[in-house]
This record gives sequence, C-alpha cells and structure tokens, in this order.
Amino acid sequence: MRIPFNKPYLTGKEIEYIEDSLRRGDIGGDGYYTEKVTSLLESRFSLDKVLMTTSCTHALEMAADLIELKEGDEVILPSFTFPSTANSVINRGAKPVFAEIKKTTFNIDPSDIEKKITDKTRAVIPVHYAGVGCEMEQIHYLAEKYNLYIIEDAAQGVNAIYKDSYLGGIGDFACYSFHCSKNYVSGEGGALVINNCSNEIKDRAEIIRDKGTNRPHFLRGEVDKYTWVDKGSSYLPSDLLMAVLYAQLEEMDKIKHMREKIFRRYYDSLKQFLPGSFLDSISYIPEDRDSNYHIFYLKFNNREIRDFVMNRLQNKGITVSFHYIPLHSSPMGQKLGYRAEDLEVTLEVAATILRLPLYPDLSDEQLTYIIENIVDVFKEL
Ligand SMILES: Cc1ncc(COP(=O)(O)O)c(C=O)c1O
Repeated sequence: MRIPFNKPYLTGKEIEYIEDSLRRGDIGGDGYYTEKVTSLLESRFSLDKVLMTTSCTHALEMAADLIELKEGDEVILPSFTFPSTANSVINRGAKPVFAEIKKTTFNIDPSDIEKKITDKTRAVIPVHYAGVGCEMEQIHYLAEKYNLYIIEDAAQGVNAIYKDSYLGGIGDFACYSFHCSKNYVSGEGGALVINNCSNEIKDRAEIIRDKGTNRPHFLRGEVDKYTWVDKGSSYLPSDLLMAVLYAQLEEMDKIKHMREKIFRRYYDSLKQFLPGSFLDSISYIPEDRDSNYHIFYLKFNNREIRDFVMNRLQNKGITVSFHYIPLHSSPMGQKLGYRAEDLEVTLEVAATILRLPLYPDLSDEQLTYIIENIVDVFKEL
C-alpha cells in the first residue's frame, strides 16, 4: 500500500464555483467570492477586519509594514517555524530574535519571550503550531507590559480555539494560510486579520495590498479617480482562488471533524506507549484549547530512534515527514549570528519529531495499516 503524506480535500463545489466566477467575468482581486470568503471568516471567527491575500507570507509582510518595522527594531518569534515568519522581519531590515519553545506544545515559551525583550523590541510573533494555540494570555500580558504588537502567525491555526477566541482574533494582527498543505485550501492563499485597530490602519492596509493606490476607496465611490498614495504591492488573490476557498470554508466544520476522527484514532492507539523508553510524547492539546487537528506527531527519545521508525514506515509505503530545520540553526540563521546550541529544546524537538499522514480522505483501511505498522516497528524497539 502507498499512502501519501497529504492530500487536499475537495468538497465537490470547487469546480461549480470556479465556473460561476468565470461566468461573472470578475476574476481579478476583490470579486464576488473574495467578498463571500471575507465576510464568512469575519462572522464565523468574530474578526474585526479580514483582507484576503495571496499567501500567509504576504499577510505577514503586510503586518510588518503596518507596524512600520524598520532597521534597528527587534521582533521575538520562535525558531521552530517556517522561514516566512522571520522573512517578514528581516525583509524590513529588523532583527528576528528567536525564543525557545515549550516542551509540551512546541509553541513559543512566554518565559523566554520575557528574557529576550529589550528596548528595541517592537513585536512578538506567536506561531500556533499544529493548530494548537500559544499561551496567548501570558503573551498578552507581556505585550501590554512592554508595549509590543502581537502578530499571530496562524498559518496552521484556522478554525482552532484558545479559551473563548478563535485563533487569529487575539493579537493586533493575524495571518492565515490557505496553501494546499493546510486544512482549507485555495492552492496558494492567505489572509491578514486586523483586530481592534484604528480606521487609519485598516485604510492603509487596503492601500498597501492594492499597489499603494486608493483603488479600494475608488471602488466604494469614496474618490472619483484612484491614484498612487503610499508604498504597497500586489497582495490580492484572484477571485478564482477565492471561489475554491469558499467551497472549502462552507464545510469547514465537517472537514475539521473528519480530521479529528483520524487524530483521535492515532491518539487512542498510540498513547499506550507513553511514557516509554523510546517514545517521549505524542500530539498534545491543552484542555483550555480546541485544535483544528492540522498535525499529528510522535516525538521520540532520540534522533536515531526517530530515523529508524521513519525509514521502516517509508519502506512500507507510508509517507511520513518531519520539520522544521530550526531557523536559528539554518544557514541563514548562522549568517545572522546564531549558534545551533542557542536553543536546546527547539533543536531537540526538530531532531526527534515525526509527522504522520493526516487528511480527511485517509480511509479506515489506510489508517489501520499505518497504525499496525507503527505498532510492529515499536515491538522492535
Ligand atoms: C507557521 C507558518 N507560517 C507561515 C507559512 C507560510 O504560509 P504561505 O505558504 O501561505 O505563505 C507557513 C507555511 O507552511 C507556516 O507553516
């Protein structure tokens, strides 16, 4: 049996909505489906303002522009993340300051954030790893105490909850991803969320997103000709992509529950091996949080065991994976002056984690095959 690592789920409405979008003849940015997706996200997650973007990477860059990040500024973020989180900082000439993650959730550790705050710190970017929220209450406390912006990297956090709030609705800004590897997909795509900010910031966000022009104001009839008014770029997704995304988001809870079922089966079958001589932990969701079940992982006691299990499963046709190369120990991190040993927990997690296939189309038969093979390998350890 060959089992891929990921497979985007299709609800069956995608093609109908793409055709509808084509017929409407409005396939550029901010068309019919962009509006539908925007209001769905705003109302479902109680968000103040959502602007759909071409990617989460671009949403992060917009947030950096909106807080006017510049040379000499520092931003605290985890090293256990995707390069886009840090690129948004260095592309503006500012310095990414990497903080340690917690051993339980692999999310940024608030106690290490506080140790790394200086008078140059402007913002913190908590990354909600695997669709499980960061310690947002403590991060909020620090942000208020030291006057910092919070930019949530909620690339993996769509439709997950921390206490009473959806992820993305907690920080000053938040960034979602709808890349084809995520729970809800448009191929490439993202969104910038702006919470509790002034109308001036929201206006500016629209301008930055639309090539530095006041075209959004023109389209609303607020000015009779649009022109170049600020710096900006082109971060508007085609309405064709938003047609795909609308089909996905209409069924967001169904998709979440299908993922949850698979997650629970992994969890219930594998928790018997904890605490173990070879298995350190498996995916963990604190009680005050609701995950969107983006990732299921196993964490082993050392890299040799992880690699052994990984090779055995790959040989059985089961595609498994690991991530991230910690940013501080990557070639770019070294250029920035970091040393691998600076963040021990991050390094250890990256060397011992293994991710299992998790997507709605994973059949019962495939799931049984994966679990049986894992149990077989474990018997050899
Ligand atoms: C934590 C995190 N941030 C940002 C991104 C970038 O998202 P996008 O591909 O939509 O630009 C990813 C993508 O995997 C991610 O995992």
